[in-house]
Amino acid sequence: MLILGIETSCDETAAAVVSGEREILADVVLSQLDEHRPYGGIVPEIAARSHLQHMDRLVAEAMNRAGKSFAQLDAIAATGGPGLIGGVIVGVMTAKALALAAGKPFLAVNHLEGHALTARLTHGIEFPYLLLLASGGHCQLLVVEGVGEYTRLGTTIDDAAGEAFDKVAKMTGMGYPGGPAVEKAAASGDARRFTLPRPMKGKPNCDFSFSGLKNAVRLLVESLPKPLNPQDAADVCAGFQAAVADSVADRVKRAIREFQTRWPQGRHLVVAGGVAANTALRETLIRIGTETGLEFLAPPLGLCTDNAAMIAWAGIERLRLGLTDGLDFAPRPRWPLDPTARKVGFAGVKA
Ligand code: KG4
Ligand code: ZN
Repeated sequence: MLILGIETSCDETAAAVVSGEREILADVVLSQLDEHRPYGGIVPEIAARSHLQHMDRLVAEAMNRAGKSFAQLDAIAATGGPGLIGGVIVGVMTAKALALAAGKPFLAVNHLEGHALTARLTHGIEFPYLLLLASGGHCQLLVVEGVGEYTRLGTTIDDAAGEAFDKVAKMTGMGYPGGPAVEKAAASGDARRFTLPRPMKGKPNCDFSFSGLKNAVRLLVESLPKPLNPQDAADVCAGFQAAVADSVADRVKRAIREFQTRWPQGRHLVVAGGVAANTALRETLIRIGTETGLEFLAPPLGLCTDNAAMIAWAGIERLRLGLTDGLDFAPRPRWPLDPTARKVGFAGVKA
């Protein structure tokens, strides 16, 4: 089985060709970072126009690198949501046109399902497993029970983890994108110098919250001499990162207890999303995995952040079950993985 996948839901334009034998034949990602950097964040209109400009060339490049023709594909998959709707429309329309022209089935993939199933592409693991999805738009704990079968154990009640990293980077003058910059600064900082809150720690559910911590960092930065000297900035970043890791650890431990009680056959703790790149967080999760008897798995970095290989793979999983979509599929700005989960805050418009 061979599928072309297309991803355009945020600020990466991506195309990939993946086989049913878990082989990535081509994986092309074009980041729009430089286009958005002057604005200190993603501008949806710029993102949509940039997807439109680069999409055709990236698809051609992926097909060339894979050495395959459209006739050799079994289907074409694109992210159908959730995400910035202008971008999603570009990817969906491209995939529909290619599917129609090549006479192949079209699959609309939930971007979050792409992240959620990546560990089956990279490690071939069985259902069920516990997933921490932490990106710029989401922070969720999900039990992945099967294709299209998810139970959400917890989500953020306000900001996503990546969003908090990005805001703290802005406040401490680290620039955009924030996660990697905060992590780098934290490496030379003293995490114990400033006392910051551990949001949700000890709360009897698996939800997250980062806006209170973000606000505490803001007040702390306001209290420090300006311009912020590099050591103060590094200490703030280190303190913030330690607070995030501590808070996430508490939430994950609670989720593991629920997972091991309700899904005793589960063996794996998996992380996905851009924040999974954070070393302090990874080390925390490895330790928790060891303590609780779950094997911790993290896909390679390029498959944690947004990419099209995960969309192609989710397409393969869905095609195997006959879950194709019609050319009348309408892109979805919001598309929860667990529609039965209670509504919480405003998080969840992008992944
Ligand atoms: O999954 P992703 O690439 O894109 C979407 O949000 O869809 O995640 C991007 C987020 C950004 O907020 C970025 O600051 C954060 O992941 N991030 C990190 C690190 N690298 C990226 N956060 C903490 N530490 C990092 N090393
Ligand atoms: Zn994503």
